[in-house]
Amino acid sequence: MNKDLPVSVIIFGASGDLTQRKLIPSLLNLSRKGRLPKAFSIVGFGATAFTDEQFRNHLQDGAKQFAGFKFTPEEWATFAPHLFYQQGRYDQTADFQKLADRLSELEAGTANRLYYMAIPPTLFPNIIEQLGTTGQIHENGGWRRVVLEKPFGTDLASAQKLNHQVHKGLNEDQIYRIDHYLGKETVQNILFTRFANTIFEPLWNRNYIDHVQITVAEKVGLEHRAGYYDSVGVLRDMFQNHLLQLLMLVAMEPPASFKASSLRNEKVKVLSAIQPITGSAVAEHTVRAQYKGYLNEAEVKPDSITPTYAALRLYVNNWRWQGVPFYLRSGKNLAEKHSQIIISFKEPPLAMFPMAPGHKTASNMLVLYLQPDEGIHLRFEAKAPDTVSDTRSVDMEFNYAEAFGQTAIPESYERLLLDALQGDASLFTRADEVETAWGLIDPILQAWEANLAPPLAYYKPGTWGPAEANTMLARDGRKWMHEEARHMLES
Ligand code: BG6
Repeated sequence: MNKDLPVSVIIFGASGDLTQRKLIPSLLNLSRKGRLPKAFSIVGFGATAFTDEQFRNHLQDGAKQFAGFKFTPEEWATFAPHLFYQQGRYDQTADFQKLADRLSELEAGTANRLYYMAIPPTLFPNIIEQLGTTGQIHENGGWRRVVLEKPFGTDLASAQKLNHQVHKGLNEDQIYRIDHYLGKETVQNILFTRFANTIFEPLWNRNYIDHVQITVAEKVGLEHRAGYYDSVGVLRDMFQNHLLQLLMLVAMEPPASFKASSLRNEKVKVLSAIQPITGSAVAEHTVRAQYKGYLNEAEVKPDSITPTYAALRLYVNNWRWQGVPFYLRSGKNLAEKHSQIIISFKEPPLAMFPMAPGHKTASNMLVLYLQPDEGIHLRFEAKAPDTVSDTRSVDMEFNYAEAFGQTAIPESYERLLLDALQGDASLFTRADEVETAWGLIDPILQAWEANLAPPLAYYKPGTWGPAEANTMLARDGRKWMHEEARHMLES
């Protein structure tokens, strides 16, 4: 299919937040970096009444505020004439026909098209059907691709149904399901750290790794999204997608190539190897909690038991990982915003150095700081000078800003939009991947609902979560190591 054809990016939900904050600043940045084809149009579709001019002004305000690079009026003036708006309703074929006519007029011939669904998933099937009815997804010399925003389903059954519905109008290779964590530079770097080097991989297994901690902590609370959040909770909002994605990248086998299919095959194998937590096992392997004061938030049900925090202990049952716990945790209103992965290595087999009483070597630790303070640190033991045999933990570090410059990290949507335009689906989730992930989350949700686990715990906003999450690790003789990781950053 011809890559040099003009391209149209059509955004459904164009008057919404995502378009203004993320999509347009990302497309603007791609355009100023010269990464879009010469002939391109960005057409917003939505219920709001905008003229092209009003739409452009609205987006300009967003770009000024949210672009992670220096906004200049000159660059905007070059970009803005590519922006258009088509008012329409999602259930009206006539409005979709108007969109089709407008696109044909703008494209003036064969073109490629990327349809971006920045709208609730309940609308996907109908829109895809309307696009089909009006001949817009038929590949006629140019490609047709569709980006689907999350959440993709609320459980396995709804994800299967949604997959079934979207497959009626589209082939799987036309579908790009977004998980914005995969667009993060530091998340992609997990693969490069592992597979562009030889020094880590020989150690990356049950023989040397004691356990893995994956934390995605958020300082923010509900941010006016209570209506959505209260009906989903942390497991659906963060674990089914982002945290499991991180686990897959840490645990997967090296793919034979950097192609989407090889990569995604390996990721799905990891998910399939995870031991599902079912029935009464949830009591041992999961913790759910809600921050104190959650019930006072606007739009939250007065008796809501929606968890805003969860911690899980997962096992990947394969040769590489058998017996190595993966501890995952995420929550809102925690002490600080940070996403990090800690690989904690085993102790040396023999403690041969005579230590001062009460002194013990710390285990080696590789910390992948995904955000903020992006970088990688390795903690190891060194002899403390001028002692006979005391050791001290020291740190080797790589920091993105130091190595590549302050502004080196682009917004994840920029990368994902570019990949979708280039037809690279590696960083998007495949139908079976989404369903397998739901297959792991569903039994936990069901067991929680059936009260097979201890009741919801509570935590104070601004802390690291409930005491129960510490107890879960303490039972294994371990602890969450955010303090050690913080210390490494500061040292
Ligand atoms: C989204 C969740 O997918 O990810 C939000 O719906 C969450 O609740 C957000 O705040 C976190 O993303 P990031 O990039 O800020 O870590």
